[in-house]
Amino acid sequence: MTKPTLQVIVASTRPRRVGRMVADYIVERFADHGGFEIEVVDLAEVALPLLDEPNHPRLGRYEHEHTKAWSATISRGDAYLIVMPEYNHSFNAALKNALDYLNAEWQGKTVAVASYGGVSGGTRAAAAITEVLVTLGMIVSNVGIAIPMVQSHIADGRFAGYPQVEQAIESTHAALLELTRGRAGA
Ligand SMILES: Cc1cc2nc3c(=O)[nH]c(=O)nc-3n(C[C@H](O)[C@H](O)[C@H](O)COP(=O)(O)O)c2cc1C
Repeated sequence: MTKPTLQVIVASTRPRRVGRMVADYIVERFADHGGFEIEVVDLAEVALPLLDEPNHPRLGRYEHEHTKAWSATISRGDAYLIVMPEYNHSFNAALKNALDYLNAEWQGKTVAVASYGGVSGGTRAAAAITEVLVTLGMIVSNVGIAIPMVQSHIADGRFAGYPQVEQAIESTHAALLELTRGRAGA
């Protein structure tokens, strides 16, 4: 049986963001746990403009090459892990924009959220994006990762893990794999 493809979506696009370091760390741990083909989808590299398609995404009638490319990328994914910051108690704009671009590509796919921030660990952002993911018809894992005080776990340009986050990553990996296999009827 071929492994399902998990796309790890790096939501933050800021210069000097920590999001890519957090994502790289989670990718390493997910790879250790196995079960998925993993692909990193970094929104800073995808660099979508603010939604500029004239038609509703539900119609799938994309006019711009950047949308067709984004659609092709997300269509490859069977499951997603969104690694996201909390900005002003909610999700960051680049993530919402990237989600809004597409419709059928997200539907019925499994997704989990890894949030980070200050004291809250980005949990308000995770709750806010969950409503959007459900609206897009995604199967949202009720197990996820929340990393409080993320800046204090950055050293030498890397995110440094600790036992609680390791545990959350393991649980999230297991939940996402089970949901994804269940969806495939495997
Ligand atoms: C515009 C902005 C708003 C923020 N709002 C929050 C917030 O509401 N809650 C929080 O815990 N941290 C907040 N922070 C702090 C971020 O969690 C922290 O800067 C984190 O590094 C952002 O992720 P990034 O570096 O990957 O972009 C905010 C940061 C920015 C830049």
